[in-house]
Amino acid sequence: PACLALFTLAALAGASAATPAPIKIGQFASLTGKEAAFGQASHKGTTLAIEELNATGGVLGRPLQLVTEDNQSKAGESATIAKKLISRDKVVALLGEVASMRSLEAAPIAQQARIPMISPSSTNPKVTEIGNYIFRVCFIDPFQGVVMAKFARQTLQVQKVALLTSVSSAYSVGLARYFKEHFTKLGGTIALEQKYSEGDKDFKAQLTAIRAAGVQGIFVPGYYTEAALICKQARDLGLTLPIFGGDGWEAPQLMEIGGAAVEGTYYSTHYSSEDRAPAVQAFVERYRKRWHGEAPDAMSALGYDSVMVLADALKRAGTTEPAKLRDALAATKGFPGVSGTTTLDAQRNATKSAVVITVKDGKFRFVETVSP
Ligand code: PHE
Repeated sequence: PACLALFTLAALAGASAATPAPIKIGQFASLTGKEAAFGQASHKGTTLAIEELNATGGVLGRPLQLVTEDNQSKAGESATIAKKLISRDKVVALLGEVASMRSLEAAPIAQQARIPMISPSSTNPKVTEIGNYIFRVCFIDPFQGVVMAKFARQTLQVQKVALLTSVSSAYSVGLARYFKEHFTKLGGTIALEQKYSEGDKDFKAQLTAIRAAGVQGIFVPGYYTEAALICKQARDLGLTLPIFGGDGWEAPQLMEIGGAAVEGTYYSTHYSSEDRAPAVQAFVERYRKRWHGEAPDAMSALGYDSVMVLADALKRAGTTEPAKLRDALAATKGFPGVSGTTTLDAQRNATKSAVVITVKDGKFRFVETVSP
């Protein structure tokens, strides 16, 4: 045994001398709390990407190390975490957040420290407007609003619609506005606009007003917990009309909380695991293997792509030096990912297709792809 211990020690010493220092990448995500489904899915996608890159030798001859901090879905946490990741862990870049309101908290910190930040899936336009170190690998809500306005007018053929918006979420307020602008352009009418706040549980007053207005549909640009409760309470009040929303609906909890009430609802998002493209199916298979049979959703795919886009920029920059890494990220062009091809424009946003999903027999089903 003494011999073995010595041998092990020697092997360890040899290994540590030969292994170059890892490149640290910071991640802030809602791993617990109200939007835990977002953070968990995103984190699983990023973890898979990091593991795959490390299995082939890492980047710039160094392994990648993901340093993840949970913001518990709480307001105020993401800025603190961003500071900690930058000053304590000396990360070369930040990945996060899924939700726009939390990206908006951390982005000024990243910008001030001149550390590149990539949001996998925050769609509010203001996120990247914070500064030239802030990027995203997803489409933005002016496009998502058009997608759902067209879908409502042309596919669902509704003319008179109500909006039910979360006033404490930048994402919700923005998406409601872009939907309204385009829906009206297409000859639709917004008969009334009702409001709620994140964490609300009772929507009966708003839904009673909506019932009285005699609309043909309700657009709910919120997150899955409230969206599911809204669908439930709407059906309880006898409202059988179409209810539809945006990417914030995407989580298994939509069905778990909403049950039969979310059957036949629709939402737009970034990606569908039912996409037959070989690159997508290969990703679905690797993800399922790594995460015990779970299928990757939009957050998983965008989380995965945020790492791959960063790794590609690191390779092109040839260094982890933040200013050069920023320039390489800004030059991202035609990068093939699992959520589509990423080209970053002058505003550091991506232009990508959207998909429309419906709930059928308790499952998310792909309806159509909408190109920009
Ligand atoms: N787009 C949402 C936001 O900006 C977050 C989100 C992305 C939710 C993808 C679900 C899927 O807040």
